[in-house]
Amino acid sequence: MARMKIQSALRITGKLSLSGDKSISHRAALIAALAEGRSVLSNFSTSADCNSTLNCLRGLGVAVHRTGNEVVIEGTGPSGLKAPEAPLDCGNSGSTMRMLAGVLAGCDFASILTGDESLRSRPMKRIIEPLQLMNAEVDSVSGRPPLQIRGSRSVRAISYLLPVASAQVKSCVLLAGLQANGETEVIERLGSTRDHTERMLQWFGAAVQTRSNESDGHLGTTVALNGPARLSARDIRIPGDLSSAAFLIAAAALLPGSDLAIEGVGLNPTRTAFLSILQANGLSVLEDEVRNECNEPVGTVRVRGGSAGEPVRAFHPGAVNVVWGGLIPKLIDELPLLAVVGSQINGGLTISDAAELRVKEADRIRATVCNLRAMGATVDEFEDGLRVFGPTKLNGAEIDSFGDHRIAMAFSVAALLADGPSEIAGADCVAISFPEFFELLESVTERVA
Ligand code: S3P
Repeated sequence: MARMKIQSALRITGKLSLSGDKSISHRAALIAALAEGRSVLSNFSTSADCNSTLNCLRGLGVAVHRTGNEVVIEGTGPSGLKAPEAPLDCGNSGSTMRMLAGVLAGCDFASILTGDESLRSRPMKRIIEPLQLMNAEVDSVSGRPPLQIRGSRSVRAISYLLPVASAQVKSCVLLAGLQANGETEVIERLGSTRDHTERMLQWFGAAVQTRSNESDGHLGTTVALNGPARLSARDIRIPGDLSSAAFLIAAAALLPGSDLAIEGVGLNPTRTAFLSILQANGLSVLEDEVRNECNEPVGTVRVRGGSAGEPVRAFHPGAVNVVWGGLIPKLIDELPLLAVVGSQINGGLTISDAAELRVKEADRIRATVCNLRAMGATVDEFEDGLRVFGPTKLNGAEIDSFGDHRIAMAFSVAALLADGPSEIAGADCVAISFPEFFELLESVTERVA
């Protein structure tokens, strides 16, 4: 695996737009395949994960044509998918496996979903249980992939209380519910997760109702749809990926003198908690020109780094030094990066209620703690999170990506802030979500001459 050497940086300057959001791209491809007619998806994600979704759809007999970042999908309608001739390889992508399993629950043929070593170690009981309740046969060894699925044309509509705050599980149940007779309902009481599936289904013509659980004294949202639902092809432009942008935003916010604009990026409120926490801690991060495009909020993020002295190291009224509870699902993918930011803010940062991080592409709590310690930070590790002391001057170090794209990128940002060079082992895993990461980062980074 490739090693990447990263020198400390002076500042970040430039104006960028990014490839399409990974979460939204998966959903656009899956839902376009279930719709009737041709959909053109522009600014489709360049991530390896979204390519896994496209390849699985091809394996199910869907005509998928990709030219650069434009993807054309000839939707087959729900009954047009064909039994695959070989196992469907989801690569490293939990989203592909969990959401596709929901689609396959409504198909009366057998298929096998598998993936790479990391994916084969990840928990799938969370989707097996609701899919079985909905009439699908799903077999696995101890709830891990590969999954053998035999769906049915008589999917049962259910009301399902999510046992984990997971948009993938919610989406799996909703996609299966498209084929059911009657109302499928998903109740999230641990906090609202990203709502891209609901928005995408609406864009393709399905009636999806959402309501807050606040009046019942709970966190989160309840989502319901009536099946069988008919979807019609629709073109869509995918907004830039905010979770990819987050790395560049954090680097710019923490390096004094930086000036960065990221245009056309997704600003869905179920994804923007990371920006809110930077703002609450006195960093200059602005959401600008926000508009609605294809049923998703999109805008420009403008960042100025430490221009008013070094606000990040000063006490800031309203500072957020603890992140927990219903906030966690809204920045789940940004938590390793947030821990790096936490090492730079006055009072440091505690993250709790985030045990889900242990079952991501790697154990992200362990990986974050190890790498922060390697860089000289003081960190406590908890079962469901960590505490990092700050502000701390980081030292350049040998970083282990643990084969996890978000760890590689979070610690590339840490490396820019550190004294002395760092080296990231296994850096090529960034292609899982953001293949252009190192090139783009280099293009906006200024170093001491
Ligand atoms: C995703 C949901 C989250 C997130 C993942 C993408 C999605 O996973 O971590 O990167 O696209 O729905 P969980 O649903 O497991 O929390």
